[in-house]
Amino acid sequence: MKHLIDPTDLSKEEIDQIIALAQDIIAHRERYQGSMAHKKLATLFYEPSTRTRLSFTAAMMELGGQVLGFSNPQNSSAAKGETVQDTVRVLGCFADIIAMRHPIEGAPLVASEVSRVPIINAGDGSHSHPTQTLTDLLTIKRELGHIDDITIGFCGDLRFGRTVHSLIKALSRYHGIKVVLIAPDELRLPDYIKLDVCEKMGVAYRETDSLDEAIPELDVLYMTRVQKERFLDEDEFDRVKDSFVLDARRMALAKPKMAVLHPLPRVNEILTEVDEDPRAAYFRQVENGKLVRMALIISLMEWKNDPEHTMPEHEAPIVNPALHCTNAKCICNNEKHQPRFRLAENGIMRCWYCDSKVR
Ligand code: CP
Repeated sequence: MKHLIDPTDLSKEEIDQIIALAQDIIAHRERYQGSMAHKKLATLFYEPSTRTRLSFTAAMMELGGQVLGFSNPQNSSAAKGETVQDTVRVLGCFADIIAMRHPIEGAPLVASEVSRVPIINAGDGSHSHPTQTLTDLLTIKRELGHIDDITIGFCGDLRFGRTVHSLIKALSRYHGIKVVLIAPDELRLPDYIKLDVCEKMGVAYRETDSLDEAIPELDVLYMTRVQKERFLDEDEFDRVKDSFVLDARRMALAKPKMAVLHPLPRVNEILTEVDEDPRAAYFRQVENGKLVRMALIISLMEWKNDPEHTMPEHEAPIVNPALHCTNAKCICNNEKHQPRFRLAENGIMRCWYCDSKVR
């Protein structure tokens, strides 16, 4: 069985297969209308969402399936202290596939360890958002015609922006990717992505705090919202919240075919005057999210009993009582899960669940 917890759970071939299927759905929508008849998707959303939850819902409905779940954990037995693992054991009795969003990092991973149906990570804290990544890849493919050989600028909150972390991981397996990281010091990309992904996979990257300087070389500009809900210190949020604003003046500095992506929601980092620019792809990106989730649901359901499509093999986790994960938002610090670790690049020990550096 295949779960999707991290973008690297899918091989590059599987990603390309899902994108190709999404393109076939676009061309022949009617062929797929009943493909999930009598199947149920559970959407377990412990954190707010508009696009991800409702695009999963719309995707399953378009495939002829049904949807159950909750969008507010206070209305579920999580409010009585039920663990994530117990909840997915229960939902596995009711549904054929589960999409889960959780503010605690590693929650979908521990869910997948006990689930008898495929688990899809619909976003865990600041960590990972692999279905947004599939959305972004399909959007790049449709906007530019190719994913290889692009220069992509990530702008804004690269520290807490889980969509950025996941997309860089996926792009690292494509050819000729150049990454420009545009962020203030406080919001720089976490080291584990720079070291374990960019440096390990040979992705060329550079850092700058000037969007004006970076924009002329970009094929894709990936804007992000500064994630107020992840800050522990409100003063720090106020200092950086308006770091970068994309407006018509800045768009005039960009290539004529540059695509502007944003996972949305936006706050004020893209002015509405940009919306009518043909390069503004972020609302087309939303529709791609539904199409690629249709392709993902079909694929994971087909792969459920296929030995060709299983989870990638990892080295066994390290268990050492002397080590502790210091991330307060990690599942091992919120539910009773044995702390586990892995040895990453440059001999750095990282948490198995959330990738934080272990001190
Ligand atoms: N892009 C995204 O994850 O949006 P939602 O938070 O609305 O699901």
